[in-house]
Amino acid sequence: MTKRIIVGVSGASGAQLALKTLEILKALNVETHLVHSKGAVASVQHELGDDGIEQLKSLASVTYGPNKMTSAIASGSFHTDGMIITPCSMRTLSGVAYSFSDNLLSRAADVILKERRKLVLVPRETPLHEGHLEAMLKVTRMGAIIAPPVPPFYADMKNATDLLKEVAARGIHTLGIDPGAYMTRWK
Ligand SMILES: Cc1cc2nc3c(=O)[nH]c(=O)nc-3n(C[C@H](O)[C@H](O)[C@H](O)COP(=O)(O)O)c2cc1C
Repeated sequence: MTKRIIVGVSGASGAQLALKTLEILKALNVETHLVHSKGAVASVQHELGDDGIEQLKSLASVTYGPNKMTSAIASGSFHTDGMIITPCSMRTLSGVAYSFSDNLLSRAADVILKERRKLVLVPRETPLHEGHLEAMLKVTRMGAIIAPPVPPFYADMKNATDLLKEVAARGIHTLGIDPGAYMTRWK
């Protein structure tokens, strides 16, 4: 059975991570539903160039704008196998923690939580203040998984491309999908 995963991209730094995650999921034949926030328009443009959002969209099976609240992923009746928000800004993290649901990205995440499906958040901020940590604890208690983009320093990474691959593959692994050879495992 083909897996169906929502990939959320917010306005945190790390657009390359979103790109690599979508690349790997595509190679694994996972059906991806891409939703980005309004904030992501600026950060993705800054990090991937003017056609950044288009680059991301070209890798996804289905794409949604940030405000289309009538989209399938806004409803629990639309079955998905989980969602990853990568990178996850502190604003989106807070929106998920308090069920803002004021855009399609945070609404889709809220649906995942209420349906008790898997939600993986890849937060990108450092250092963290108490409010960030409290929001992370809150979403963890609600069932989400906080998976910071921490590279496996024991893996034989030669360059930034290797590092991105390893971090993206770990997010996919945390979702419960086997990233196969994309992820170096400790033996
Ligand atoms: C280039 C760029 C990089 C940013 N990096 C981060 C970041 O790493 N973490 C973060 O929480 N916000 C970051 N921001 C700020 C967010 O984009 C901003 O708070 C935005 O309102 C987030 O909204 P969203 O969560 O709806 O995307 C960055 C903004 C820009 C333009």
